[in-house]
Amino acid sequence: MTAGIIERYAAYLPVTSATPRVTLGEGSTPLVRSSRIGPALGLDQLYFKYEGLNPSGSFKDRGMALATARAVEAGARTLLCASTGNTSASASAYAARCGLRAVVVVPAGGVAAGKLAQALAYGAIILIVKGSFDRALKLVRQVADDPAVALVNSVNPYRIEGQKTAAFEIVEQLGRAPAELYVPVGNAGNITAYWRGFCELARRSGASLPALHGAQAEGAAPLVAGRPVTRPRTVASAIRIGNPASWSTAIAARDESGGTIDAVSDAEIMAAHRRLAREEGLLVEPASAAGVALLLKRAASSAIGNAEPIVCVLTGHGLKDPQALTRGSRVPRAIEPTLKALRRVLG
Ligand code: F0G
Repeated sequence: MTAGIIERYAAYLPVTSATPRVTLGEGSTPLVRSSRIGPALGLDQLYFKYEGLNPSGSFKDRGMALATARAVEAGARTLLCASTGNTSASASAYAARCGLRAVVVVPAGGVAAGKLAQALAYGAIILIVKGSFDRALKLVRQVADDPAVALVNSVNPYRIEGQKTAAFEIVEQLGRAPAELYVPVGNAGNITAYWRGFCELARRSGASLPALHGAQAEGAAPLVAGRPVTRPRTVASAIRIGNPASWSTAIAARDESGGTIDAVSDAEIMAAHRRLAREEGLLVEPASAAGVALLLKRAASSAIGNAEPIVCVLTGHGLKDPQALTRGSRVPRAIEPTLKALRRVLG
């Protein structure tokens, strides 16, 4: 049996022996070495941390396991979140696991089909609001004073604590810290969590620190612009966020690590998405390709030098957003089940 993140990292998490070991087997995701993109860029040690292989299909499960455990411990009966989709899928799964109710608040038209289907299947109460993710988050944050309701957005400190375990795993898997880490940035909890994880390891075991490179979508890049974006737009719905909750800690992660937070266009995101699928066999949702898009952009302007190893975090699974997968592809027509028809294709 694979232990979950609470069991594996209890010594480094805010838990006691009384904290329930809530798990769906999250974490322990593969670090896949690049077979074609890396060599094409002249990089020998490019890796992908495939977080889409978590139980609900995204990295959110790490922090959600811990946030749910602490909610159960505190006697909460409901998990509440605003979400662009993955947090809602994850909260719904862990609520189901623990016999809690999940109430998820999502922006109308702003969530990929697979994620909404997940929340429905896990039995969550879904509230679709007329407004952006930022409005939805503002709304749920107002319910902070009800002890029966645990807010499980990344403003919940246990979410960040749980998510920092991804940094621990990468260092275990590489045998060292990467020189650079690329990660998509939306509400900015994840880049905050990675930086915390790497810093803790550096203090504990003298591991080196990577430069963190955060990727925002061009139409939803408040951290790049230095001010909130009222109407964020991007094909990458997961990171369609105009006013990230973890703003200042993301900027600190960038500056303290000597990294960058930069914008990539939707075209660059979809080009990276396609290359991951076609050149690596790695299926991700569009937002998850943003980090790779930033790596490709930096490589094109020779900004990388000989920094290796490099890790790109692939945050969510491709099946979350089936529409994005088939965009621009033609679905093949049916053929006769004859050898002749097959041979015509094989050539
Ligand atoms: N990648 C994916 C697939 C995401 O779902 C998210 C965030 C991010 C990257 C960005 O992470 O917010 O910590 O900077 N999704 C949230 C949600 C907002 O509601 O599922 P972040």
